[in-house]
Amino acid sequence: MTLVVALLLASTAASVNTSEVPRTWTEAAVKAFEVPLAKPLYSPVHISEQDYYRIPTRTIYRTYPVYHPSREPAGYQDFLKQQEPQIVFDPAKLKTSADWIAAGELVFNSPVSFAPVFFSAQDLRDPSFFEKTGMPVAKDGTIPFARWVIREKGKVELGSMGCNTCHTRVMPDGTAVPGAQGNNPGDRQGAYMLRRAAKFAPPEKLLAQVRTFAKQFEVPGLSDDPNRATASMTLDEILKAGETIPPGVTARSHTSMLLPPQIPDIIGVQERKFLDHTGLVRHGSIGDLMRYSTLVQDVIGLARYGDTPAAQPARPGQRYSDEQLYALAEYVYSLRPPANPNKFDETAVRGQKIFRREGCNTCHTAPLYTNNKLIPADGFEPPADHLRYFAISSKRVGTDPRYALQTRKGTGYYKVPSLKGVWYRGPFEHHGSVATLEDWFDPARLRDDYQRTGYTGPDGQGHAVKGHEFGLNLPAEEKKALIAFLRAL
Ligand code: HEC
Ligand code: HEC
Repeated sequence: MTLVVALLLASTAASVNTSEVPRTWTEAAVKAFEVPLAKPLYSPVHISEQDYYRIPTRTIYRTYPVYHPSREPAGYQDFLKQQEPQIVFDPAKLKTSADWIAAGELVFNSPVSFAPVFFSAQDLRDPSFFEKTGMPVAKDGTIPFARWVIREKGKVELGSMGCNTCHTRVMPDGTAVPGAQGNNPGDRQGAYMLRRAAKFAPPEKLLAQVRTFAKQFEVPGLSDDPNRATASMTLDEILKAGETIPPGVTARSHTSMLLPPQIPDIIGVQERKFLDHTGLVRHGSIGDLMRYSTLVQDVIGLARYGDTPAAQPARPGQRYSDEQLYALAEYVYSLRPPANPNKFDETAVRGQKIFRREGCNTCHTAPLYTNNKLIPADGFEPPADHLRYFAISSKRVGTDPRYALQTRKGTGYYKVPSLKGVWYRGPFEHHGSVATLEDWFDPARLRDDYQRTGYTGPDGQGHAVKGHEFGLNLPAEEKKALIAFLRAL
């Protein structure tokens, strides 16, 4: 037995009992866990501890894999209809940390929605849906972004919008990698479903629905809010905007449909001090990841922004229990990258020297390949007290400041992302504006007539991807070596 295996066994044998689970939503922790927004008066004010614990908790049922229609085992749907509902998350049964991690995997894959968001049950039974939307299928024929659930015997429901829907990547060889930058084309699928609905429903009704949905992206206190454009866009324009969002980028709740964020790789998140591209959430303990998870899935719509009331009316929703959140966070911390096929060869060694020579390591500092600092976006001056409380770099990178200034996640900063795992992810930059590392280091991306290879913006026109000019002007040979080094991380 190697030392590593021995340590792993020792750590999985460690026992954890439910009394160690931190209380997620305490008044003090919730007050401290976010960086204020660039307009601090409009920083979110979340629901109280009392109101939070009044929300009923989610029951985690046993779920079953969804197959591509041509790959489903014979009689599978009948088999599902025969199954009894089974509640599979029971904290009393969790003893070792391995038990908690396994339970966390169930939570990660467990849906929070049984209504269609990106796709319906009918879509996933229809081969043409896969062809039309480019939905990836894993090599065993499964669709790792959704699950069948039995909450009532005889009723087979499709569940989605658990963490797996956005944070699972199907690699080119068909391996599904939980935690990696997701690649289900969710927003394109959403637009596809709405276009289909438009054939049957009155267009005014659909437009009204879509505009109500888009209201969550408007930014309180921002007079020239670009997100408000949806209020005057036609249904076709809004759907086109959705169709421009590629896999790996998504208009998550309280982000933006017209300025959507890249889905980050969450493998290795344990080592990051800030969560989200704008570093909105401080990450100092497992409790912070628990708060983050319930915030984004359960209660973000209940936040008040300064004097502006919650955009979505308080709804009788559900939340994860503290034990579910603890298990989920332990699972997320346990995620490891897939085996890297790129060798640390001579070219990569040359690239490493260039990486150091070019000063990349001042921000992307080894071994995490991030210094865990926040970089002020252009147009934002960090207030003096921020320098005391948060790790802020004196340098700037000059990338598109809009996500940091004109969204509900707008702290005025971008965090320095870790470069570990760039070989299995993309598109890159906070909007996923470029598809590959080659494009990221292509000086042509600074030009106004540049055709973007990643997210193109809501009009599909492309345009320059500004800022972060590091490494752009290296000789071709050095650039190749630099990229080989990055792909070996
Ligand atoms: C609808 C898609 C979607 C779902 C569902 C989703 N996420 Fe995310 N997640 C995102 C996007 C997009 C971001 C980036 C948001 C930003 O930067 O403002 C993100 C960011 C994160 C981050 C921050 C990582 C970093 O390094 O900044 C963590 C951690 C995370 N998600 C965990 C989870 C967990 C755990 C779940 C399930 C409880 C979940 N997410 C569900 C889309 C999703
Ligand atoms: C002054 C700090 C700083 C320096 C120096 C720096 N970077 Fe970055 N890097 C950042 C920030 C901040 C981002 C995120 C910008 C954004 O999304 O708007 C980033 C993004 C990236 C990304 C995209 C990552 C992703 O997942 O989307 C890569 C790749 C990268 N940098 C590589 C490099 C290399 C290689 C160098 C040196 C040639 C370098 N960086 C120098 C701060 C820096």
